[in-house]
Amino acid sequence: MKAFLTDVQKLGDRVRQEIRKGPATETEVSRSIVILNQALALNMVCVLRHMRHFVTADRFDARVVAQEFLEHTVRESENSDLIVTRIRELGGEPEYERHSAAKRGQLECSTSSEFEDIIRADLATEQSAIAAYAEMIAWLADVDPISSELLQQILSLEEEHAEVMLNFVTVVIT
Ligand SMILES: [Fe+2]
Repeated sequence: MKAFLTDVQKLGDRVRQEIRKGPATETEVSRSIVILNQALALNMVCVLRHMRHFVTADRFDARVVAQEFLEHTVRESENSDLIVTRIRELGGEPEYERHSAAKRGQLECSTSSEFEDIIRADLATEQSAIAAYAEMIAWLADVDPISSELLQQILSLEEEHAEVMLNFVTVVIT
């Protein structure tokens, strides 16, 4: 599970590196594409993470939790499609982080108490993703308001997911 948090933190660091180069001019569309590709990578880590949790919850017969993670997976996948579409609109090529996905296929835990720890750690990962999206949104706002608005929608969904997970931690699990 820590691997997912590390992935998200690394992606957040890459976003910050790009942002630290300063604001883009209107002709620097390529910089919006770089940021959107980081958002895509971040989103795909989230898709995979939610999918792993769906499979794990299903294995422990935690039906409500499993259903919720399945829904998160589907909604995050739709967001990946929207980011890909926007990258193409800007004339860019979407870059998929297949390498990190390939390393995350193993089962994450063998007991339900370990699964509880996973959901707690997942909350931290979701919050790290939210922080990275917020920085991208602020940076894009002036140079590419359409992409900024798109990431704002995605951020709102991540906030909903974080709230659901907080609910699992405080109500369902404890
Ligand atoms: Fe999410």
